[in-house]
Amino acid sequence: MPLVTSKEMFEKAYKGGYAIGAFNVNNMEIVQAITEACKEEKAPVILQVSKGARAYANHTYLVKLVEAAIIECPDIPVVLHLDHGPDFETCKSCIDGGFSSVMIDGSSNSFKDNIELTKKVVEYAHAHGVVVEGELGTLAGIEDDVKVEEGESSYTRPEEVEEFVTKTGVDSLAIAIGTSHGAYKFKPGSKPQLRFDILEEVSRRLPGFPIVLHGSSSVPQNYVEMVNQFGGAMPGAIGVPEDQLRHAASLSVCKINIDSDLRLAMTGTIRKYFAEHPEKFDPRDYLKPARANIKELVRHKLIDVLGCAGKA
Ligand code: G3H
Ligand code: 13P
Ligand code: ZN
Repeated sequence: MPLVTSKEMFEKAYKGGYAIGAFNVNNMEIVQAITEACKEEKAPVILQVSKGARAYANHTYLVKLVEAAIIECPDIPVVLHLDHGPDFETCKSCIDGGFSSVMIDGSSNSFKDNIELTKKVVEYAHAHGVVVEGELGTLAGIEDDVKVEEGESSYTRPEEVEEFVTKTGVDSLAIAIGTSHGAYKFKPGSKPQLRFDILEEVSRRLPGFPIVLHGSSSVPQNYVEMVNQFGGAMPGAIGVPEDQLRHAASLSVCKINIDSDLRLAMTGTIRKYFAEHPEKFDPRDYLKPARANIKELVRHKLIDVLGCAGKA
């Protein structure tokens, strides 16, 4: 099956009370781990590429890796999505370069400027058969080397969403309800709690419209402990409880972004491998178990968190 947009995926996910996993890809092993899990679990998937991923791996390599995955997994729908597109030019480059979906992240602009920028991207994208995700509200955490302090983050204002969606024509909307980027989402000792009241008010104002959650890694404590046990130092890394993500997926959230969890699985596994096999130096030896653990983690997300296993 060729690349698809997320339009039909989101319609089915909304009606079915589940969400599609949007996983960030930066190299071959990560692409393989995600798509093999999705193939085995018959799950639709969004593979997403950030500005940093394009800088690291190169646009063409990433597109070709995704094309290879499509050949290997012909029965599952795959979307290739630009994550956090920073400007019109980057979105245009991805639209022209074979992506089926882009995000324009105008959330740090004024409401008016965000609308203007997002509308411009939507016009270009739709003319080329590509769908667009916009964002309202600012998440805390780090993305593409930009650090947003907790005090500078802001929840989405539900009273703005109808005007934003109507004026821009976006196909999905990322909102801020307490998730954040990276591995340090909540203070140790605090009780993580997403603002479901905001999500419900947004959904009431936008019936049937697909909502996106960024910053939705749950930061599995077994991998945090693995990192810390084998030479790392990630004290107090805490993520979003998986039962809250599952609840969000049963509501209007149709896309859940997960990146840090995969990074943790990879890093923890490699650290452990090196500690236990100090004589090894063939990258295949340590990338193989890392890939296998990412695959199992993705499988768990598909089945227990997103609810999208069997929906391909
Ligand atoms: O939200 C950001 C994603 O985790 C991508 O991270 O910008 O380091 O590639 P990156
Ligand atoms: P995490 O850092 O929680 O994995 O979020 C990833 C993300 O939002 C990518 O856009
Ligand atoms: Zn994000």
